[in-house]
Amino acid sequence: MFDLEYLIPLALALSVPARAFPAHASLAGLRTEEWNKALATLKYTPPPPPPGPLECSGTKLVNDADHPFMDPQPGDIRGPCSGLNTLASHGYINRTGITSCSEIITAAMEGFNMENNLARFTCYAAFLVDGNVITDKLSIGGKSDKTGPDPPGPATVAGLSTHNLFEGDTSMTRADAYFGGDNNFNETLFQEFVEYSNRYGGGKYNLTVAGEYRFKRIQDSIATNPTFSFVAPRLFSAYSESVNPINFWVDGRQDDGQLDPEVARSFFEKMRFPDDFHRAARPMNGENELEVLAAHPIEPGSNINGVNTYTPDPTSGKLADKCTLYENHVNRTVRSLYPDPTGDLLDALKINMHYFYTSVQHRGCKEIFPYGQ
Ligand code: HEM
Repeated sequence: MFDLEYLIPLALALSVPARAFPAHASLAGLRTEEWNKALATLKYTPPPPPPGPLECSGTKLVNDADHPFMDPQPGDIRGPCSGLNTLASHGYINRTGITSCSEIITAAMEGFNMENNLARFTCYAAFLVDGNVITDKLSIGGKSDKTGPDPPGPATVAGLSTHNLFEGDTSMTRADAYFGGDNNFNETLFQEFVEYSNRYGGGKYNLTVAGEYRFKRIQDSIATNPTFSFVAPRLFSAYSESVNPINFWVDGRQDDGQLDPEVARSFFEKMRFPDDFHRAARPMNGENELEVLAAHPIEPGSNINGVNTYTPDPTSGKLADKCTLYENHVNRTVRSLYPDPTGDLLDALKINMHYFYTSVQHRGCKEIFPYGQ
């Protein structure tokens, strides 16, 4: 005798086609059987080599007729990075918010004059953990802005909003994920940014303000967020985002490192170049992040047992040592998310890891091959 109670769900399961894995969703952290299922629905697109430096690298009008601002359309993705949101709103990267490292690197150089190695370092570090290495697609955000857990299943594509990898705590204008809303502009935090610009920068956001405001945001998180974590790779993105507004949002004709908070609002909140905006006067490499750290040195670490229990983590990569940051990322973070890759997945990881390495090669760092050469 057949038992209908078992046969009906089985028949239904066999008649429903497997749900395709989103081509822009990361494969990091999946179990082997989940990988196999996902890989069966995805086409392998090996990534093209990273673009080289700009030929003409001075300032120029970037809010131009070829790159008009357009509001995101329903279904378009925006995320926690105000720089990439702006590049998407102006069509320097795909306006949908689904892009790739080669597109982002070209766009960050063209639109902001980000120095080539910095653009490579930032993008491949993020792509390896938040992007889909099989399809070569990266989502610049995507998590819904709400408190509580996201719905389960591969339909949830967090992209760059994935918490505690690149996106993390102590952002300048986004709340910590613990409080919800970490993807979105927060006016209260922006007013603190303005207040610090008035108090320490005579009304402008500059390196002095960046040092003080970074420290304040860290102290806030230590005191209020029991899950606060401040280790690599978040450590790198936090200091980088402190100086990005100074390096990239001051008009290249002004070129004095003094950012008007209303210009900052245009990027942070409206995701839009100001009218007539000219990119930086020369390729900017972000090394001034070390001055931000020097204002209030702090070891990487986290709250290990509730608020006010910040404890240094000596195993984390450190900001001043890019070779260790690179090694740490490849050997620890990526390896833990992809413990045992095979086939196309292994191939794609090796290629992207090598492209990541090219961003630190000029510093004399040694190439690491966690999956063999
Ligand atoms: C090159 C590839 C880039 C990647 C992968 C990237 C990624 C990210 C991510 C994941 C965050 C969220 C961190 C957090 O606050 O939790 C972020 C924040 C930020 N990014 Fe980017 N970014 C890139 C380029 C840029 C560029 C070119 C700019 C400026 C022109 C920029 C400016 C910022 C700023 C200012 C924030 C801080 C937002 C805030 O705290 O409110 N980024 N970025």
